[in-house]
Amino acid sequence: QKTLAEATKGKFLFGVAVNPQQVNGVNPVETELIAKEFSAIVPENCMKPQPIHPEENRYNWDDADKFVAFGEKNKQAVTGHCLMWHSQIGRWFFVDAEGKDVSPEVLKERMHQHISTVVGRYKGRIKGWDVVNEAFEDNGTYRNSKFYQILGKDFIKYAFQFAHEADPDAELYYNDYNVETPAKCDAIVELVKELKAAGCRIDAVGSQAHMHMNSPTLEAAEASFKKLKDAGVHILITEWDISILPSPYDGANIAANFKYSKEMDPYREAIPDSIQQKWNKRMLDMFGLFLKYDDVVDRVTVWGLSDNTTWLNNFPIRGRKDYPVLFDRNNQRKPVVDEMIKMA
Ligand code: XIL
Repeated sequence: QKTLAEATKGKFLFGVAVNPQQVNGVNPVETELIAKEFSAIVPENCMKPQPIHPEENRYNWDDADKFVAFGEKNKQAVTGHCLMWHSQIGRWFFVDAEGKDVSPEVLKERMHQHISTVVGRYKGRIKGWDVVNEAFEDNGTYRNSKFYQILGKDFIKYAFQFAHEADPDAELYYNDYNVETPAKCDAIVELVKELKAAGCRIDAVGSQAHMHMNSPTLEAAEASFKKLKDAGVHILITEWDISILPSPYDGANIAANFKYSKEMDPYREAIPDSIQQKWNKRMLDMFGLFLKYDDVVDRVTVWGLSDNTTWLNNFPIRGRKDYPVLFDRNNQRKPVVDEMIKMA
């Protein structure tokens, strides 16, 4: 039986997000599948600012060290995720001893410390870093994060400079979700141009590709690929999953949707055949698009190994039963994988 990694070899890397239990032997079945089926790995959480750098003078290296060693052992491309993100970062990063926002100089120095320490530790062992994650709103304006409030948009440029200085051979990426939204994609293209004009290294834009049954459309996804390709950057599909559940962003009463309800969690017992077929087709349509652009798509990574471990069972509504990735709750390859392998 051919693996996904074998089928996509020479086209793009095929990766998966992994958690510490899958690397340290607690879940050996999953460990084995990850080692065998995929040519790239990314840590689902353990390299993010909060887990790896919870206090100013304390770093947790244990999980990240094991993760990087695991990738090397299995000859997988290892991605670092992520250096600067407004979420999963300690509050300490932005405040002084009195709890007030630090000055631009202090924040810049903390960014430098963090990035040079983390990137420097794994120098030469990481293929590329998600340097900045989710800096834009869907309408294309900058997210009003603490980074942005204190340093303005230049925080992005500084992050790319510090990362490059710490590991000149590592690829550097900008990563975001809803890249298929035209205004957001345009803003990202503009950022790429500005970074290049400032002399920064940027190899690729990561499109997270957390998708729903009805959005984005295939056309919108292709339009975003075209724009990025024209901007002269490569594309990574960094966090691919397609939720089979109703999207809470649809419908008349969006706020109410975010509260757990049976209506928002309809497939606890089983998925109706017609819905499963629709999901399969959507996966294959998107995968076909990735293949069509394989000259610029360098990697496709699914966000989680199985329906058992997917973050979407708890996001954005806690306790639902989702089926968004390639292996089922028994760690069996879904039939759609065989179709993908045939297409590749
Ligand atoms: C998610 C993880 O999957 C969860 O386990 C965690 O609780 C929250 O973060 N965008 C990203 C990822 O860039 O890092 C996020 O991962 C999903 C959204």
